[in-house]
Amino acid sequence: MNNFVYDIPTKVYFGENQLGNLGKELSQFGKRVLLTYGGGSIKKIGLYDAVVAEIKKAGLELYELSGIEPNPRIDSVRKGAQMCKDHNIDVLLAVGGGSTIDATKFMAAGACVDHDAWDFLSEKWAPIEKALPIVSILTLSATGSEMDTAAVISNLETTEKIGRMDRELLPRVSFLDPTNTFTVSPYQTACGSADIISHILEVYFNEENDLYMLDCFMEGMLKTVIKYAPVAMREPENYEARANLMWTSSWAINGFITAGKRHAWSCHPMEHELSAFYDITHGLGLAILTPRWMEYCLDESSVDKYVQFATNVFGVEPSQDKMATAKKGIELLAKFFFETLGLKSNFTDVGIKAEDFPEMARKACCGGVIKGFKPLAQADIEKIYEMCL
Ligand code: NZQ
Ligand code: ZN
Repeated sequence: MNNFVYDIPTKVYFGENQLGNLGKELSQFGKRVLLTYGGGSIKKIGLYDAVVAEIKKAGLELYELSGIEPNPRIDSVRKGAQMCKDHNIDVLLAVGGGSTIDATKFMAAGACVDHDAWDFLSEKWAPIEKALPIVSILTLSATGSEMDTAAVISNLETTEKIGRMDRELLPRVSFLDPTNTFTVSPYQTACGSADIISHILEVYFNEENDLYMLDCFMEGMLKTVIKYAPVAMREPENYEARANLMWTSSWAINGFITAGKRHAWSCHPMEHELSAFYDITHGLGLAILTPRWMEYCLDESSVDKYVQFATNVFGVEPSQDKMATAKKGIELLAKFFFETLGLKSNFTDVGIKAEDFPEMARKACCGGVIKGFKPLAQADIEKIYEMCL
């Protein structure tokens, strides 16, 4: 266990009827608010009207940027950063899923510099010294962007999807009302749940520095998603199910479970190439990759962790044959993704072609090695991609 600093300063308003606090929270940062959102789901659910009413009630000046895409593009970020400069914006209010919040994070950083926002993500890796304050209202439980320092942006010109973490990008305040997720489709609920599970497994399957307390916490979160994702898909307005998914999405990636661990993620870099090349939904790519990655990394040295996963998360009866127990855990996870959640189970069905594997694999490991649970070089990643066909 390594030393760590625990400091997650996002203020969270969780639950129904908390929007009355929005005006007060925004006002502490200034008067001019840039409201950002996606393709219009927030209008359909009445959230847009409620947010605008609160902003007006607080006497704030409202500017708007809509149309942020799933797998958000750098062009939207550029537009938002420019609007911040043109209107001297004081605070950004992101209302939506991970894509809207992520794009808003880089708008907030881009507003504070003279260079192009892509320079934060390209090889230049320009420093993020400052960002305008961000407030978020989450409408989809998945990425944890509402309470983390990360954001992932796509560049269609270069066929790249790149993420970066920086403390400056952390939302100052987030509103988490499970009723705002009642309208999330069964498909997006499934993808979001697969994303949450992946965020946990990227940390759970880790060579070193395990801490019993954190393992128990992660197993609890995994069981929560496994219990409630199917309920939310069947009964979209089940508050308990939506609330459990929402709070788990935040805690899966807000820095708590990674405290004290040294680790690199494996499935996420592999998936980001799928989204970059094929614009597929992030959680779907992760669902297809994760069981194959687990299978690829399973060996005598790692088998005990798989047995722990199978028994503690899926209730598999441990047998003398550890390998068999380990494989049962992977099989049950695959069954959960592809049967219970109904997600497509292979690359062929989502149109991903083998001819792109070498290039996607090279980019996923940046031409080197992903130093995750098992080191993965380009050849390993290509093999995992092949297992997904
Ligand atoms: O654009 P609108 O109209 O809002 O529709 C969205 C979008 O079509 C819709 N939606 C959102 N809330 C809804 C709703 N539909 C009905 N009712 C609601 N309440 O759902 C669709 C998907 O939205 P999106 O924001 O793209 O989904 P998600 O939250 O899964 O975000 C995915 C993005 O986040 C990145 C992913 O790579 C991807 O680009 N990630 C961000 C991370 C982070 N910041 O830490 C980590 C993750 O691993 C991930 O990489
Ligand atoms: Zn993810």
